[in-house]
Amino acid sequence: MVAKGSPIGFIGLGIMGRPMARHILQAGFPLVVHSRSRPPIDALVALGAREAQSPAELAAQCEVVITCLPDDETVRSVWLTGENAALPAMRPGTLAIDMGTTSPRLTRELAEYAQTRQVAFLDAPVTGGQWGAESGTLTIMVGGERDAYERALPILQTMGKTIVYVGESGKGQLMKLANQIAVAVGMLAVSEALLFAEQAGLDLNLTVETLCTGAASSWAMEHLGKRIAQGDLQPGFMVRLLQKDLQILLDEARATATPLLGSALVHQLYRHLERTGEARLGTQALIQVLRRLSGQG
Ligand SMILES: NC(=O)c1ccc[n+]([C@@H]2O[C@H](COP(=O)([O-])OP(=O)(O)OC[C@H]3O[C@@H](n4cnc5c(N)ncnc54)[C@H](OP(=O)(O)O)[C@@H]3O)[C@@H](O)[C@H]2O)c1
Repeated sequence: MVAKGSPIGFIGLGIMGRPMARHILQAGFPLVVHSRSRPPIDALVALGAREAQSPAELAAQCEVVITCLPDDETVRSVWLTGENAALPAMRPGTLAIDMGTTSPRLTRELAEYAQTRQVAFLDAPVTGGQWGAESGTLTIMVGGERDAYERALPILQTMGKTIVYVGESGKGQLMKLANQIAVAVGMLAVSEALLFAEQAGLDLNLTVETLCTGAASSWAMEHLGKRIAQGDLQPGFMVRLLQKDLQILLDEARATATPLLGSALVHQLYRHLERTGEARLGTQALIQVLRRLSGQG
C-alpha cells in the first residue's frame, strides 16, 4: 500500500489529468506535477502541489509516477526515450502508472524496461470521460502485477469509483479498447438518431430528454446527446484522441483477424473531421459529418 505521506507525481494535466491530479492532492497525498502548458500547472500549484521542470526531476522525488498523456509517441518519449525521461530516473521499488489510453504493445515494452530497473509498471486506463474525472467516479481497468495493483489502490481510489484488476501487463489497455468499440459505435447511434430527429422537425432537447428515459438511454446520449442538442461541439474527448484509440484497436484486431465493421466505419467517418481541421472538436462532432453527408451543416 502506498502510504499517505508518499509523494505522488502526475504528468499530463489535460482535460482528464488535471481533475484526476486534483483528487489525489485533495485526498492528502503530497503532489508533484509536470505538464506542457502553464495554466493547469499554476492551478494545481495554487492548491498546494509542487512543480517539477521535467519528467526525470519529478520521477526522482516520487514514490509513484502517473501519466495521462495524449498518444503513444508522447508516452514513449516522456517515460523512456525523451530527454529527461521518467523511467530511467525512478528509484528501485517505486511504482509507474500510465492512465492514458496507450497501445498494449507499447505498454508491455515499457513494463519490461521498468522491470529491469525494479520498478513496477501498471497500465490503468480509464473510462467515464471528463465528467467522471471531475467527480472522481472513473472506472479504472488495471493491468500488471497484482501486488503492484494492490499498492496503487489507495491512489486509484481517489480518482475512481470502480477499479478492476484485469490481469497481466497490457490487459487493462485491451479492456479499454473493448470499451472504445462501444463508445465509437454508440456515438454513431446517438448522432444518427439526432440527425433523423432534427430533419423530422423534432425539438432536439426534448428528444434527448425523452430518449434518455427509455431503451435508447446511454452515457453518450445523456452527456453528448445533450451537448449536440445545445449546439456545443467543444471537447470532453477530442476526435483526434478517439481516432488514435480506433487506430490502435484496428491494429490489434488485425493481429487476431477479428472483424470490427462498426469501429472501422466510425474511424472512416471521423477522417472527414481530420481533413477539415476539426479533429480537436469533441467526438459528438460526428453529427457534423452526418449533416454534411445529408447535404446540410
Ligand atoms: N477526454 C476523455 O474523455 C478521455 C477519457 C478516457 C481516456 N482518455 C485518454 O486520456 C489521455 C489524455 O486525454 P485528455 O482528453 O486529457 O487529453 P488532453 O486534454 O490533450 O491532455 C493531455 C495533456 O498532456 C500534456 N502533454 C502533452 N505532451 C506532453 C509532454 N511531452 N510532456 C508533458 N505533458 C504533455 C498536454 O499539454 P497541453 O495542455 O500543452 O496540450 C495536456 O495537458 C489520452 O490517452 C486519452 O485517450 C481521455
